[in-house]
Amino acid sequence: MKNNLRITDHPILDIQKGRRISFQFNGRSVTAYEGETIAAALYASGVRIFSRSFKYHRPRGLFCMAGHCSNCLMRVDGVPNVRVCREPAHQGAEVVSQNAWPSLTFDLAALTGYVSFLVRPGFQYHRFIRPRWAYHIWEKFLRRMAGIGTLADSKPAAPTIRKTASPEIVVIGGGLSGLSAVLSAARTGAEVLLVEREAVLGGRAQYDTSKIKVNLENSPLRRFEVVRDMAEQVEALDNCRILKNSTAFAWYDEDILAVSGPGEFWELKPGRTIIATGCYEHPMIFGNNDLPGIFTAGALQRLMHGDNIRPGNRAVVAAQVDEGYAAAKQLVEAGVNVIGIVDSRNKETVLSAANAHGVAGADAPLFSGYTLKSAIGRRSIRGVYIEPVKAGGKKLKVSCDTLCVAGAKTPANELLFQRTCEGTYVLESEHQFTRKPNVLPDMRVVSADDMFAVGAACGSQGTEHALLQGKVAGLSAALDLAHGGSEIEQAREQAVEQLKDVRGS
Ligand code: FES
Repeated sequence: MKNNLRITDHPILDIQKGRRISFQFNGRSVTAYEGETIAAALYASGVRIFSRSFKYHRPRGLFCMAGHCSNCLMRVDGVPNVRVCREPAHQGAEVVSQNAWPSLTFDLAALTGYVSFLVRPGFQYHRFIRPRWAYHIWEKFLRRMAGIGTLADSKPAAPTIRKTASPEIVVIGGGLSGLSAVLSAARTGAEVLLVEREAVLGGRAQYDTSKIKVNLENSPLRRFEVVRDMAEQVEALDNCRILKNSTAFAWYDEDILAVSGPGEFWELKPGRTIIATGCYEHPMIFGNNDLPGIFTAGALQRLMHGDNIRPGNRAVVAAQVDEGYAAAKQLVEAGVNVIGIVDSRNKETVLSAANAHGVAGADAPLFSGYTLKSAIGRRSIRGVYIEPVKAGGKKLKVSCDTLCVAGAKTPANELLFQRTCEGTYVLESEHQFTRKPNVLPDMRVVSADDMFAVGAACGSQGTEHALLQGKVAGLSAALDLAHGGSEIEQAREQAVEQLKDVRGS
């Protein structure tokens, strides 16, 4: 068994470690390398429980690594509720866990799990209110049990500066489709403002080593290389302003878009808005699906290819979509032993997905027609029970220290629906509906002609599809604002036609 989880050698990536630093976690010193996140450094040092759930204080481990869940909230340098999976480690940082006593590993409040049968959903709303004099005593107790963190040690060093701007085109999200929209729009001469939640452009694709076809005529390229090249082009544009580490979080009266960034609060009045906010990977439904050691496919890519850390030594991959096979291949490349790929689809589909990603055979045994029944373990995963989809089959136990779930995704399009309150609900899997926007062929949202939706935020799963959508939306937005003439019009029509072909392929 390999105890050191740091990847030193990789068949695709050039591994380069930053300067060695250290920080304090709950009073002990933890080693990190510059460029790593706090979560990754803690994981490499053996930490598996990062927080506790509100109610039963169940252990919570790294799950999404993308700032989308609440599993990794910690206090960093006196600031509560920092998502340490997105927080870079720095020399001398003080990191403290929250909402667990006496420790994250052994939390006394977790004993409530043993009496969970007494505490039904909604229980807290109609208990503890009588006698009235006792209410405030219960209030303190419940606050301590369920609250997350305590107030920050000090006020922010500088007040937030309020700024206003009226850019011609605002693109929200700097992943593949957003960058494609920026490049297309900016090349017509339009003035573009790009809002990106993370410190680096590229979105999830920057951690993905799988190959993609960006053009029907070209041979496949690696996703992270494609997006890195696009990000460099966007950074070099004179007519594109980029707000990094910034979140567009709401629409206000008179169609003002609110954006919060480091020390800044922006009130934007865009001429056109392109929503390229990506998607959320969600958990699969099976017993014990919240155990530490269970990751989404995207989380593993960030951990292995962003922080150069393996999640463990023995992994099971649960695949509802082909992306699970790409994740399995990447686990093998990172030196993880893939014990099995569990996929409820039929044998032919599973074999063809495995062959397409080069993971068939001894690399990763296939369990086609099987589904996850439950995860085994108390503080972290030790294995899974799987069972055949068809009734009457035998349940199997598979030991592992990592479980990768690659299932359906939900478009991250809240901003779009805050403005339009419209969309279509689509059944993505047997457990999950997602809400997708209704768009015209030029990617314009049906109920708001100044907004466009592209990429995964629009329900797209394919890369070529997302790139073309970005291109169509960027050109359409620019044409709306009288940038470009018949040439750009022609380019847009051509891209719309290509999009139809990709859709049909
Ligand atoms: S937000 Fe950090 S693991 Fe999900």
